[in-house]
Amino acid sequence: MAESLSTNLAGVILRNPVLLAAGTAGTLDEMGDALDLSRIGGIVTKSITRRPREGNPTWRILPTDGGMLNAIGLANVGLDAFLRDYAPKVPNVPTRVIGSIAGFSIDDYVAVAAAMDGVEAIPAVELNVSCPNVHGGAEFGSDAAALSTLVRECRKVLTSTRLFVKLSPIVAGPVRLAEIARSAVEPAGSQPAGPNSRPGAEALCISNTLPAMAIDVESRKPRLANVTGGLSGPALHPVAVKLVHDVYRAFAKDSGTPLVGIGGVIRWEHAAEFILAGASAVEIGTGLFADPRCPIKVAEGLARWAARQRVGNISELVGRLELPEKR
Ligand SMILES: Cc1cc2nc3c(=O)[nH]c(=O)nc-3n(C[C@H](O)[C@H](O)[C@H](O)COP(=O)(O)O)c2cc1C
Repeated sequence: MAESLSTNLAGVILRNPVLLAAGTAGTLDEMGDALDLSRIGGIVTKSITRRPREGNPTWRILPTDGGMLNAIGLANVGLDAFLRDYAPKVPNVPTRVIGSIAGFSIDDYVAVAAAMDGVEAIPAVELNVSCPNVHGGAEFGSDAAALSTLVRECRKVLTSTRLFVKLSPIVAGPVRLAEIARSAVEPAGSQPAGPNSRPGAEALCISNTLPAMAIDVESRKPRLANVTGGLSGPALHPVAVKLVHDVYRAFAKDSGTPLVGIGGVIRWEHAAEFILAGASAVEIGTGLFADPRCPIKVAEGLARWAARQRVGNISELVGRLELPEKR
């Protein structure tokens, strides 16, 4: 299994293409109590902000048909506590650790990116751009100009750490999403990159939760204290597959930008769909709440699928979706 699943994600070598999604598995390696981390490709940390955050009041997680809703509000320990209490443990985590970063201004992101760049055992950071920009209010991930600036500024402080951008699903339509994807990978106004470096993101992670809400019909009140939240889990999966498909076809395939599929993976078939649509790896979040060992089962299923498909390595199946002839 080892060789057939070994994955090179923008220069970060993973044992297999199955990672734990940001915010669903504790701050760092807490899932290690329930899941053998040496059998997965990697962990994405909780999104870390410059200052600690309490997040939203409860209720802030709810089951829903086909998934769950959350309005955690980026509760996290903050950068100082991350550097003091978690960063020293990273070298001993038995899998790759990707640092997730959130913020409400470009300075916020840059401060956390610079600090994570100093943590040697973190080979890449993932920017969670589904956060409102205090200057203007729109999410960074829905504003190509703001995203370009954000990526350019973060790039400047990353010396050896790879830069991944986790796109927001809320932008309307494939054309607009491709435009956003391009602004993350080739930010406007960036200097031409050297042969081995990119001016912007080295991989795109697609995507985050979809805005959603639930109502208690007896009390006639919203079920989440925050009123609205984000939908994750199986209900999100077909939506996320299409987003990966759209970005792969419109932009990523030709530019050689690796994609990570995120949304509703609970069985290996879901991960395989993402791979055929164009993803080089997948992240699993909500699936962990139902079965903490599901990432290992997904990796085992992918290995058997790769053997049946007669490929030496799973990467040979990336983007190998067979589309019907154009009518
Ligand atoms: C409880 C919870 C907390 C989350 N926290 C974060 C976070 O801190 N940063 C982030 O980028 N995404 C966060 N997400 C989104 C997930 O990383 C993932 O993109 C989303 O849940 C879709 O994947 P899934 O269907 O496998 O859960 C969170 C999701 C859940 C359910």
